[in-house]
Amino acid sequence: MAGKVGRDAIETASRDELETLQLQRLKWSLKHVYENVAHYRKKFDSAGVHPDDLKTLGDLAKFPFTVKQDLRDNYPYGMFAVPMRDVVRVHASSGTTGKPTVVGYTRNDIDMWAGVMARSIHAAGGRADDIVLVSYGYGLFTGGLGAHYGAERLGATVIPMGGGQTEKQVQLIQDFKPTVIMVTPSYMLVIAEEMERQGIDPRTSSLKIGIHGAEPWTNELRAQIEQRLAIDALDIYGLSEVIGPGVAQECVETKDGLTVWEDHFYPEIIDPATGRVLPDGELGELVFTSLTKEAMPVIRYRTRDLTRLLAGTARTMRRVEKFTGRSDDMLIIRGVNVFPSQIEELIFKVPQLNSIYQLHVGKDGPLDKLDVHVELRREESARLTRAQKDEIGAALQHAIKSYVGVSTQVSVLDEGGIERTLVGKAKRVVDTRPR
Ligand code: DLL
Repeated sequence: MAGKVGRDAIETASRDELETLQLQRLKWSLKHVYENVAHYRKKFDSAGVHPDDLKTLGDLAKFPFTVKQDLRDNYPYGMFAVPMRDVVRVHASSGTTGKPTVVGYTRNDIDMWAGVMARSIHAAGGRADDIVLVSYGYGLFTGGLGAHYGAERLGATVIPMGGGQTEKQVQLIQDFKPTVIMVTPSYMLVIAEEMERQGIDPRTSSLKIGIHGAEPWTNELRAQIEQRLAIDALDIYGLSEVIGPGVAQECVETKDGLTVWEDHFYPEIIDPATGRVLPDGELGELVFTSLTKEAMPVIRYRTRDLTRLLAGTARTMRRVEKFTGRSDDMLIIRGVNVFPSQIEELIFKVPQLNSIYQLHVGKDGPLDKLDVHVELRREESARLTRAQKDEIGAALQHAIKSYVGVSTQVSVLDEGGIERTLVGKAKRVVDTRPR
């Protein structure tokens, strides 16, 4: 297939035209889930709503929310709206405990995703004659393959490097001369550091554009990356449950927040405490309804990401402000989503440990680091040698790496080693990363 040139016409269509399309697609999506997913039919019925009740976009507020727990309760394929023979791919992301959240795609879904990713790379300034280094992880994580298909659709040359192996990343940049890099913002800095270590001035590399996301980052970090590498650094957002990367993308001409690809993903901002829909401009939790997804549509999916909806600038579609945090306790460690409950589950499986633990999140240079402090039961503190205690720590560290996917440093302390809070909730997470 020929590469894509230019913008999609819908990106600059009038609001009226866009909203007409949204309404039509929203009606289809509600009907599609009601007819094909038992979970949605039950939920709509018990809330007393029917797809026919949606006459305007505002009517969506009558429909119930979908949360991560719904996906967990229907693990692995219960939220799919098409038979498995029509599902051509699955991806997965962290669940709150051992089981991941599974998402499925039909051929049309993959095609739509490639389309919004191509659009995102184009909005960041990428073109068909670019060479794109994909340094997001490939695999169940949506980053690598999402970026890959999008860059290919754009007609660019793709280098499917994947995450890690920093020295090799630098070698590929030096030899293959990519002009675009797609990577988490923190790993971008690690690559820049490695270049400097090798005596290469990162400003002289072939790179011109960085497309960074999968974790929160600030405009200060943008300035740092742009200065250090002499590139334009743009923000990209997405989440597996909705599609993966390519739900929203910052435009290079304005760099003022991320344009939501509203023809495929309908955004709302709600008050996370009451669920009430908030007007544009107010800070709250971002909620998405997919408008064209076939295999696993989502209706009012609560992302837990906090931001505000703003009027469009570079496009007629609305923007979201750079993300400021989350309304739950999910941590993002080196781009890996981690729920404290996933680690807790593993700690509680170790018979020598008591139930007191603390997760310390900090920085090791530009990268996040996670230290896990656990305590031994009283009798074990006295009985075990230091070597045996360290062995328990090493085994737990290994279990966390293989089940949660994140590297940690586990410290096994004697009973009483973790400071007790006198009032209120135990402090399970101490996050000292700068905001
Ligand atoms: O992180 C998809 C992705 C890949 C986005 C590559 C961008 C680039 P999940 O693993 O499901 O999907 O994690 C989704 O990551 O709810 C946010 O909390 C966070 N996140 C993603 N992008 C950004 C961003 C991918 N640009 C979760 N800024 C989301 C802040 C982000 N947080």
